[in-house]
Amino acid sequence: MELTLISSPAAALDAEAVVVLESEGSKRADLEKPLAAFYDSGEITGKFLDFALFHGVEGYKARRVLVAGAGKPDKFDAAALRKLAGGAVRFLKGKVTAIAFALDAAADSAEYVAAVAEGALLGNWEPDRLKTGKEKEESKPIASVTIAVAKPDTERTAALERGRAIAEAANLTRDISVEPPNLLQPTALADHARRMCEAAGLSFDVLDRDRMRQLGMGALLGVAQGSAEPPALIIMRYQPADALPGVHLGFVGKGVTFDTGGISIKPAEGMEKMKYDMAGGAAVIGAMQAIARLKPRVAVTGIVPAVENMPGGRAQRPGDIVTSLSGKTIEVLNTDAEGRLILADALAYARQLGCTHLVDTATLTGAVVVALGHVSSGVWTNNDPLLQRWMEAAKQAGERMWHMPLDDDYREQLKTVYADIANIGGRWGGACTAAMFLKEFVDETPWVHVDVAGTAWLDDAKPFMAKGPTGAPLASFVTLALNWK
Ligand code: BES
Ligand code: ZN
Ligand code: ZN
Repeated sequence: MELTLISSPAAALDAEAVVVLESEGSKRADLEKPLAAFYDSGEITGKFLDFALFHGVEGYKARRVLVAGAGKPDKFDAAALRKLAGGAVRFLKGKVTAIAFALDAAADSAEYVAAVAEGALLGNWEPDRLKTGKEKEESKPIASVTIAVAKPDTERTAALERGRAIAEAANLTRDISVEPPNLLQPTALADHARRMCEAAGLSFDVLDRDRMRQLGMGALLGVAQGSAEPPALIIMRYQPADALPGVHLGFVGKGVTFDTGGISIKPAEGMEKMKYDMAGGAAVIGAMQAIARLKPRVAVTGIVPAVENMPGGRAQRPGDIVTSLSGKTIEVLNTDAEGRLILADALAYARQLGCTHLVDTATLTGAVVVALGHVSSGVWTNNDPLLQRWMEAAKQAGERMWHMPLDDDYREQLKTVYADIANIGGRWGGACTAAMFLKEFVDETPWVHVDVAGTAWLDDAKPFMAKGPTGAPLASFVTLALNWK
């Protein structure tokens, strides 16, 4: 999709459709007269995500005017505008291919330009790579979006590029996440990362099974051994010339390309969804692409442990005890709690590589979905300053996060007499005991854990986003790195 920033009033925009904003309750000052009449008649409500399309509106150069409901003015912000832009794109898709967004005086800022660029690109994405025929043709994407502001200065131009880089990276994450498990095994995931790194100018490395054995990654290897597909540990490095001294961010994402549960096998119903158990890993791959383009002043290493969790003849059993890279032994009481096993080794490895601050993300537990639904990601930490940075980045990025507890008391549930730690903690507080398990492997390194099991995937389409992978929490990763000063 082409994105352009220009200076023009809404009425003068030359596009197949021009999108104007209208808020609820109070008319925006610059709504043109012919449209004001529709507001009075109730056809334009201004309610958030309420769209009204008009043809041949007097005074407008464009053939169509889409009035996008911006909601109550006190609730309007960049996150709302991002959704509105996505909603407008999805409303107009299939009808036209070239649209223009008129940002009025109230929404004319760099932050809002970024929001429109990002929202439009995200709204344009469809999970239909493998569809053929008529249905696909009907969902023809929007080819060009023009954003009109009063003055397209350098700040707004840079914001457009930021929105573009983040959304294009999120769409890469979504492309990878939606791939079916027969086409995306650990090796294929590593190939995606390799291609991204080559194109973006990042250094890339991948550890194979032999290398993992030499290093002693017994936890990761234990999960991988039930599958005929070999595991891969993906490493992507961004090292700017003017890097801030003493800081090296490590972003770690769970890359389980399919989670059957292993010998502790999952029920058949809904198991197909476990193809998105690598969404955290895909978010790290996407984040590294955006970081390579936006060039923050901080060194970042992205790490994705990739495995397929299968119940093959060589699969690990409940009761197995593995020795992790950190040296700690783990009793595997449930082979379906595999994400924490591969992350344990990946986090320990990130520390060996010299990362000073760690953020991991994973579709780790069903329990976080019980706790927070599909609205917020769960966040745990051992370090308040890093948590603060993360929450601030997430807020800017428009991704909802909720800080969850990590008191030492949760450690009790992971006790076992046979090893240093068990990989499950019983029925209650499952998302918290999973986080507690990970904490064991980061030691004193400042760390934030983000469970996206409820937020990385939409079961139903939203007006502004297709069904399927969302890209979360990529935008927060990128914003965290960009904000580091
Ligand atoms: N991949 C799942 C978690 C998950 C559940 C992700 C639902 C997305 C949607 C994870 O590996 C898992 O199976 N976790 C178990 C842990 C349990 C065995 C302690 C769970 O949540 O049931
Ligand atoms: Zn599992
Ligand atoms: Zn899993």
